[in-house]
Amino acid sequence: MLITFEGIDGCGKSTQVSRFEAILRERGISSVVTREPGGTKIGEAIRGILLNSDNTHIVPLAELFLYAADRAQHVGEVIRPALEGGKWVICDRYFDATTVYQGAILGHHEELIELLNREATLGCEPDITFLLDCPAEVGLKRRAKREMRDKGRDRFERKALDFHIKIRYGYLALANKYRDRFRIIDSTLPEDHVARKIREVISPYLPDNG
Ligand code: TMP
Repeated sequence: MLITFEGIDGCGKSTQVSRFEAILRERGISSVVTREPGGTKIGEAIRGILLNSDNTHIVPLAELFLYAADRAQHVGEVIRPALEGGKWVICDRYFDATTVYQGAILGHHEELIELLNREATLGCEPDITFLLDCPAEVGLKRRAKREMRDKGRDRFERKALDFHIKIRYGYLALANKYRDRFRIIDSTLPEDHVARKIREVISPYLPDNG
């Protein structure tokens, strides 16, 4: 099973990814938890370039190609071998993020984005994609709290509210387009409640149903 988590910055993905991993561990299910950009040594180096707040001058196409390079490495080195080995893979962001973020930034390069997503993923499509949905203001507030804690903001967190609103609606439109795969979860709910909803969705896939 390949399960991906998506949503705007500050939607609570990281917390829910950890909780999801704990459920699988409890069940004795062998899993790999990973993320994009990143997930491999090469990918983490690419992540460093992409999120570095000094790199505001990065050209949008260069940015798109870096995400695709990160993903190609990630799928080849981590995701595909894990799936072939019968493991569950839980990925914090995947190709939907490119469709939405780079789609919003690049506008008209839809076909190129689709082509790169297809090539980089080698046919590894998510079985379920959780979209943790919350208003952009809520996400930004959560991110601000984290910044205070971590003392630093990356390039994306510096973007304005209207950008994050666009991303939110981009994700909702995508979820509407691929309804079989997406599950939209209201991430303004308390953390436990969100975790319970996620568990309800995956319980039919767990070995003894729940
Ligand atoms: P993260 O904070 O969820 O780890 O994600 C880092 C940033 O990378 C986030 O702001 C979204 C962005 N991103 C893209 O723009 N395109 C992509 O394909 C991916 C995977 C992430």
